[in-house]
Amino acid sequence: MESQQFGGKRALITGGGTGLGLQIGLALRRAGASVAIASRSEEHLESGRQALESGEGPGTVATSVCDVRDHHAVRRTVKEVEAAIGPIDLLVNNAAGNFVRPAERLPEKAFSTVVDIVLNGTFNMSRAVGRSMIEGKREGVMLNVVATYAWTGGPGTVHSSCAKAGVLAMTRTLAVEWARHGIRVVAVAPGPFDSSGAADRLWPSRELEQKVRESIPLGRFATREEVADAAAWLLSDAAGYVTGECLTLDGGGWLGRGILGADEPIPTIRRRRR
Ligand code: HXC
Ligand code: NAP
Repeated sequence: MESQQFGGKRALITGGGTGLGLQIGLALRRAGASVAIASRSEEHLESGRQALESGEGPGTVATSVCDVRDHHAVRRTVKEVEAAIGPIDLLVNNAAGNFVRPAERLPEKAFSTVVDIVLNGTFNMSRAVGRSMIEGKREGVMLNVVATYAWTGGPGTVHSSCAKAGVLAMTRTLAVEWARHGIRVVAVAPGPFDSSGAADRLWPSRELEQKVRESIPLGRFATREEVADAAAWLLSDAAGYVTGECLTLDGGGWLGRGILGADEPIPTIRRRRR
C-alpha cells in the first residue's frame, strides 16, 4: 500500500480499539488517513488511541463511545467524528459479539443480543454514514467484516452465523442501491485469526485452538495484518470497480474436501485395462 494512498481521507472504524479493527486503523493511518474508532469501552478506545498515535501516519486520531445497537448513539457518534476529523469517506463495520453455545441452550435474549450488535449495528452505522455521504454529495466506501459461516452455516454460533449472513445480504443490497451515489460497499470474510475477543470465546483451550488450526488446508490462522491489508486494498481506489463483493481470506477453510478428504495424500489409482 503506497504511503499516501489514503492521504486526506477520513475513516470511521467500529470496534476499532482492539483486534482486527485496530489493525485496519493502523494500516489506513500508515497510508495517510485520519482514523476515528468507536465502541462501548472507554478503556478499549484509550488503548486503541495510544496504539494508533504511536503507529506511523500524519492523520488525526479520534474516539467516540458508542454502542452500535443504539441508533441515537450511532447518529451522535457520526456527528462527533465528523466534527473531529471531517466528513467520513470510509466506514468499517467491524464491531461484533460472539460466543459458542448449542442452539437448544441458547437463550432467546442471547440470540437477539448478537444479532442486534452484528446485523442491526451494521445497518445503524451504514445508514447514518450513508445519509451523511449522500446529503454531502461525497463518494465513499463501506467495508463490512463477515465470516464464512454466513454461507456455510456455523453450528454452535447460530446467532453470529445468521447475523453475518444478513450483513452479507446488506453488503450486496446497498452496493446496488447506493452505487448511484458513488458509494461502494464491500466485505471481507476472514477465517480464524488471533484476537482476545475470539480466542476467549471461541477456542479457549490449546486443544480447541489446535483442532481449529488443523481444519484449515493452509494449516495456520490468518494474521491480523493479512486481513487488514486486504481490507485496506478493498477500501482503496485500486479497488474502485469492486462493489458488492466479499473477499474470503481463510486458508481454504470453507472449501469442500472432495470425496477422498484432504488429510491423507491422494492415492494414485491405477487405470483398469479392459
Ligand atoms: C452463553 C452468553 C454468554 C456466553 C452472554 N450470553 N455471554 N451465553 N455464553 N459466554 C447471553 C446471556 O443469555 C445474556 O443474558 C445475553 O447473552 C446478553 O449478554 P450480556 O453480557 O448482557 O450482553 P453484552 O454485555 O451486551 O455483551 C455482548 C456479548 C459479549 C456479545 C455477549 O460477548 C461481548 O461484548 N462481546 C464483544 C467481543 C466479542 O465477542 N468478540 C468476538 C468477535 S470474534 P443474561 O441475562 O443471561 O446475562 C467473531 C469470530 C467470527 O465474531 C468467526 C470465527 C471463525
Ligand atoms: P474483538 O477484538 O473482540 O473485536 C470486537 C470489537 O467490537 C471490540 O473492539 C468491541 O469493543 C466491539 N464491540 C462489541 N460490541 C459492540 C457494540 N455493541 N457497540 C460497539 N462496539 C462493539 O474481535 P476480533 O476478532 O478482532 O473481531 C473483529 C471482527 O472480525 C468481527 O466482526 C468478527 O466477527 C470478525 N471475525 C473475526 C474472526 C476471528 O477469528 N477473530 C474471524 C472471522 C471474522 P468494545 O468492547 O469496546 O465495545
